[in-house]
Amino acid sequence: MLGNFLDTITIPSPVVNPNIIRENVMRMKKKIESFNANFRPHFKTHQCAYVGTIVRECGVNQIAVSSVSMAFYFAKNGWKDITLAIPFNIRELKPLLQLAQKIDVLNIMIDHEQTAQYVAEHVQDAKLGIFFKIDTGYKRCGVQPQEYEAVDKLLSIIGQNNNLTFKGFLTHCGHTYQKTTCEERQEILEGAREAMIALRARYITKFPKIIISVGDTPGISAAKNLEGIDEVRPGNYVFFDVMQARMNNCEAKNISITVACPIISLHPERKQIVVYGGGTHLSKEYLVSEQGQKICGWVVKYNKDGTWTHLPNALVTTLSQEHGIITFENASDLDQYKIGDVIGMLPVHSCMTSCVSKFMYSTDGTKHGTLLGETEDYPSF
Ligand SMILES: Cc1ncc(COP(=O)(O)O)c(C=O)c1O
Repeated sequence: MLGNFLDTITIPSPVVNPNIIRENVMRMKKKIESFNANFRPHFKTHQCAYVGTIVRECGVNQIAVSSVSMAFYFAKNGWKDITLAIPFNIRELKPLLQLAQKIDVLNIMIDHEQTAQYVAEHVQDAKLGIFFKIDTGYKRCGVQPQEYEAVDKLLSIIGQNNNLTFKGFLTHCGHTYQKTTCEERQEILEGAREAMIALRARYITKFPKIIISVGDTPGISAAKNLEGIDEVRPGNYVFFDVMQARMNNCEAKNISITVACPIISLHPERKQIVVYGGGTHLSKEYLVSEQGQKICGWVVKYNKDGTWTHLPNALVTTLSQEHGIITFENASDLDQYKIGDVIGMLPVHSCMTSCVSKFMYSTDGTKHGTLLGETEDYPSF
């Protein structure tokens, strides 16, 4: 057993390292600011007020979120400038307006004229910033960058309500995740940058303060040029994960989140140990190695001070609902483990791990709440 707070762990528990988080934030912030762009990190990756506080200590005061309840949660924790970076769900207008009255800046995103119409007809007693979502190739949502008529229509609808201010154009290149090389991801971001700049040029005379907002961790990590972009919204970079490491966006040492899992069975004959910690705790996303091996996570050994060391001789090879199977290179690698020990997993996709976590420990042993740990849909404050 370990001689620190990990001794007290009874169930699968995320553990985050604030020093690595801080390094990740400062590195990303420095890169973005070197192009005179504004850093607005997406907080969907951690959904944790404690992690948010570390980001704030790095000099950040603007964030993006992906739900109204997440906006409430972070507003309750002192964030006053928030962009809701998902096409707005009109059924949540009432809580959204309550929130808009409590913080300095609340921006929403729209890509359809029915949403614009609803918002224009119903927003009163609160100010909202409006971004138009632009589809630069991901094909999830958004207006095409050359669909000027659609943009004009949206502008004329929101122009009917003085409580709404057009802020600019927002895009998300999620398709960078589907590309294998850094050059391909760089190309995607460059294409989006050019399309967004051309779009802004068309409207800049009428709206001189138009903001162009882009952001995804693989694209920004690969980017060589962010010239002309006003705002960047990466999310995953704060934790990174195995997926990002395999894309060469980080190394194992840059991953700031692990899940500490109790060992519940040992199988040296198959070079495997079984832990309490499965899809319910990490999500069931996996990658496949060049040799066709399923990778459900990387493995770490915890040090006495709560930090960890990556074990390159082990892989998480299976995750079922609550079991995880760790396969080692040699049966003798298992000699140092016994039932009841705690071993850690580096998640394949950290955003999915956080969103199933009700709490997180920091390496000093403090337990921190998350959005999921709050009971209310819209945490009151
Ligand atoms: C609209 C939007 N912006 C930014 C991000 C952040 O992307 P990443 O987690 O790759 O940094 C996301 C993530 O899904 C997103 O949906």
